[in-house]
Amino acid sequence: MMTSAAIRQQFLDFFKSKGHIIVPSAPVVIKNDPTLLFTNAGMNQFKDYFLGNKPAPNPRVADTQKCLRVSGKHNDLEEVGVDTYHHTLFEMLGNWSFGDYFKKEAIAWSWELLTDVYKLDKDRLYVTIFEGDAKEGLPKDEEAYNEWKKVIAEDRILLGNKKDNFWEMGDTGPCGPCTEIHVDCRTDEERKTVDGKTLVNNDHPQVIEIWNNVFMEFNRIWSTGKGGASELKKWEETNAELVLSTEKEKQDEYKKGRADKHRELTSLSPLPNKHVDTGMGFERLVRVIQKKTSNYDTDVFTETIAATEKITGKTYDFSDSKQAVSFRVIADHIRAISFTITDGQLPSNTGAGYVIRRILRRAVRYYYSYLDFKQPLLHQLLPVIAKQFENVFPELNQQLDFVSKVIKEEEEAFLRTLSNGLKTIDEVMKQSQQTKTISGTAAFELLDTFGFPIDLTRLIASENNLAVDEVGFNAEMNQQKNRSRAATALETQDWVTVNDIPNSKFVGYDSLETKSKVIKYRKVSGKGKELYQIVLDTTPFYAESGGQVGDAGTLTILSGAEGHDSPLTIIDTKKENDLIIHFAETIPADLNGEVIAKVDATRRKNITVHHSVTHLMHAALRNVLGTHVAQKGSLVNEEHLRFDFSHFAKMTDEEISAVEKLVNEKIRQNIPVVIKEMKKDEAVALGAMALFGEKYGDVVRVVIMDPAYSIELCGGTHVGSTGELGLFKIKSEGAVAAGVRRIEAVCGKAAEDLINSTFLEIGVISGLLKNPKDISKSIENLQTENVSLKKHIEALEARQLVIIRNELLQKDEIINNVTFIGAIVEVSSADALKKLCFDLKNKLHDHVAVLCANIDGKPFVAVGISDTVVAAKSLDAGKIIKEHIAPLIKGGGGGQKNLATAGGQDISNLKAVIEKVKSLL
Ligand code: ALA
Repeated sequence: MMTSAAIRQQFLDFFKSKGHIIVPSAPVVIKNDPTLLFTNAGMNQFKDYFLGNKPAPNPRVADTQKCLRVSGKHNDLEEVGVDTYHHTLFEMLGNWSFGDYFKKEAIAWSWELLTDVYKLDKDRLYVTIFEGDAKEGLPKDEEAYNEWKKVIAEDRILLGNKKDNFWEMGDTGPCGPCTEIHVDCRTDEERKTVDGKTLVNNDHPQVIEIWNNVFMEFNRIWSTGKGGASELKKWEETNAELVLSTEKEKQDEYKKGRADKHRELTSLSPLPNKHVDTGMGFERLVRVIQKKTSNYDTDVFTETIAATEKITGKTYDFSDSKQAVSFRVIADHIRAISFTITDGQLPSNTGAGYVIRRILRRAVRYYYSYLDFKQPLLHQLLPVIAKQFENVFPELNQQLDFVSKVIKEEEEAFLRTLSNGLKTIDEVMKQSQQTKTISGTAAFELLDTFGFPIDLTRLIASENNLAVDEVGFNAEMNQQKNRSRAATALETQDWVTVNDIPNSKFVGYDSLETKSKVIKYRKVSGKGKELYQIVLDTTPFYAESGGQVGDAGTLTILSGAEGHDSPLTIIDTKKENDLIIHFAETIPADLNGEVIAKVDATRRKNITVHHSVTHLMHAALRNVLGTHVAQKGSLVNEEHLRFDFSHFAKMTDEEISAVEKLVNEKIRQNIPVVIKEMKKDEAVALGAMALFGEKYGDVVRVVIMDPAYSIELCGGTHVGSTGELGLFKIKSEGAVAAGVRRIEAVCGKAAEDLINSTFLEIGVISGLLKNPKDISKSIENLQTENVSLKKHIEALEARQLVIIRNELLQKDEIINNVTFIGAIVEVSSADALKKLCFDLKNKLHDHVAVLCANIDGKPFVAVGISDTVVAAKSLDAGKIIKEHIAPLIKGGGGGQKNLATAGGQDISNLKAVIEKVKSLL
């Protein structure tokens, strides 16, 4: 049997032999793209080549790409594990032509690979081509049809509609007709009874699509003046009931309605060139070649399943039982969880982090409920996965300890609430029998209290033939969102083009001021304010990335329509895909003229020093703590740097000093900072530190501060030599997540400010202490003195209390057979007052005492009553305090029937307090 590793290698070798270069998978977690959380297709990383924004490094490329389809347009989560051929994370084998070959070669090669190299049975294969779409004005794909005719019988070429045979990356972006290859894996007998072609694209588990060849010809864009994304969002909001429905008909209705609305709002514009984008599901391909009926029976998954069997003592039996589903869910989900964490995303409560958390909790619930395993399990499987992918995605093996620690803690946290959550949901389900629906409120509470993601509640509900009131749940979620941030989401208007220039160029490494032109702008509103986003053709503004914040500065529009130069302030710069976007609070009416773009140089310098020193510190941490230290997050701005890194223990004071010392030495050595562009392989050979989860092109920017000390791949701005950093100082070190520590530090001007303010404070303290030679000794002396004084006072006060008590005992009056003592006394604390009252009680029978004191200007009162009087006269000290005394002293208090106290604000009524209590007798 051909192993999965061999199958993957054959794919890559095949396309190499056809002139393709092989590139690594891009990270599965996506940064800088607000429309996409995860890589969901092999082509994501090449989007700009299709759109013509960037030239491709090579016209032919092939790879295997880690993809995740659990959010957005492509979402398979609910199917995973229940069926045997959907996955969360999967590998997509792909070959690409960027303006090079087209349909003829793509079709011929896919056929050659499948039938000559992999030797698939030709009479089990079917292909589909695009039938055309009148509403979109798209013709049938005759060219693909004619190419297929050369190799496959015409009755195996099927026509497919826009839904199946026109591939789009998202609501906008590159798209085009596609041709798919399907394979019929049924037994010969089954094939005789039912014609395979009737099962293509019909959700048959044995007649499945394995390869999609997309012919990218168009870019879908929002039609100008139609409202674009915001209109579509409005449409979705008005149809929320349909969106959230779990009934298939309603879902279909929704999909059709949305597709119509989407078409109405968009148009297809031809791309500058024609391209090929293909994607073959690796796990399915392996299953077909290894002649298995389920992806989970291939060697992609069997080792993980065997390891799970060993750990749990349960057996995987290929059935549809819950136990079998659990094995599949675990084998699938562990891959998604571990590779997303490897690529730099920690589980969290929002965005991409929440997707990981949901997948993880789904897996935990399966092993907890159906494998009867109550301990963290997933993290134990990591070594198996790391080994399996050692040569394909080595990044996991390199971070094995870290990733497993994160997963283990995440499992432990959920296991702590899971059993109570399951009990609660059982109760909820019992109460929901009549309506057959779990209410939105209950679903929300399960989430809020027990951390049950909605899809977990949905899953458990459906196992019990119940639905979840999704509309109600969403209403609760929205309410919570509104509660926590009383602001509306941002509304983004369509771009307005000013100058039709295709690209924008960044020149800010070398210059901070440049002449430019506005390409386009748009308005963004929400959170009570309006902002404008501006794109320039050339810009010195660094857009936030790699942790470095975006530049601020000014744009001066030369001789606009107003006839004069109008400067406007840029408050921030960000990146969206590869677009550099400048943010302004206002813009002039006319943006047509030439523009002087100028970066705030002082601010940039302060940011830059913090970025450069981050490199020195990163290297120092690896020197001092060990090479397991890897960057997990970074922020550099003008005030400080924040650096998150993998490390398992709190740093000791000695370690912190050692890092500071090393960095400051490197600063004083005034090492020239060398920045070079080179091939990625060369950089890695030099020992460059690349970040996990960053996507690097073939040519990378390398920042070197002494080749023997720090070499990093980095796109940020840096100083010319390390002496410019001045001084480095760590402000704090602490934990942020499992196995992740955070350092906050300063250098340059910010370090100077910190040192100055610290000295100033010490000066003040020293002055207060009367400038002693040794400040800490002086403070210690004060503390010792303070302790002994306190003891002394306590002793004195104890004696004083006895004297006061004895005096009071002589001032008693008898009222209605009860001894009454009422007095204003001098004590230093409320405790002393209470103690005095208590002591009186021990000395007296049948008494009522009310003692008042003025302690530092505030009134305090204690009332003590003998138990006999409490019983005989139905008096209650607590009640007296609350009802009669608290109002008089403008305060509050309480206590027992025989002893209660109060404190207040108004000192003027203490006599009245005594009279009041007396009157109660
Ligand atoms: N981009 C195509 C897909 O993801 C190949 O199916």
